Amino acid sequence: MAKKPSYIGTLTAIATAERGGYELFKAWASSTRDTRLRTALNTVAVREAEHSWAFEKRLSELGYPLESAKSKDANEIVKLAGSRSADTKKFHALGIGVKRTTDSDDQGDRLLSLLSDTTIDSQTGELLGRFICEERDSGRLLTEAYKSLQRRIGYKKKQVK
Ligand SMILES: [Fe+2]
Repeated sequence: MAKKPSYIGTLTAIATAERGGYELFKAWASSTRDTRLRTALNTVAVREAEHSWAFEKRLSELGYPLESAKSKDANEIVKLAGSRSADTKKFHALGIGVKRTTDSDDQGDRLLSLLSDTTIDSQTGELLGRFICEERDSGRLLTEAYKSLQRRIGYKKKQVK
């Protein structure tokens, strides 16, 4: 049998995290009353699910099928996402709309480091490249959804006065 690729752990972590992401954004989409936000959340949820499946498929092709394991942290944030808490609070829990404190919070650098392993085969590299770009786009989509929500909240408050 061929030597185990060094990036199996990375692929497993992504497949698992993206599954958790799907649960989170789906739960949030189901609980929000804001229809415009729901559209954005559903888009991200579908992307997360597709990423999870794509990485699980690649792991199977490489001969290392995914063994599902859930993290406790993921369960907590899914609970918050599906709760009646304010949408703004949920954004903040994901780090959107809050000031970043350290450089390590830089999503772009974290994602790019996924390709630092020079032994990654081209098919897996292609998948990782698409994943990185879509994750960044989802980040932009969520940031825009947050700003739009804040504008609508501000507008409603002005009307109440
Ligand atoms: Fe994701």
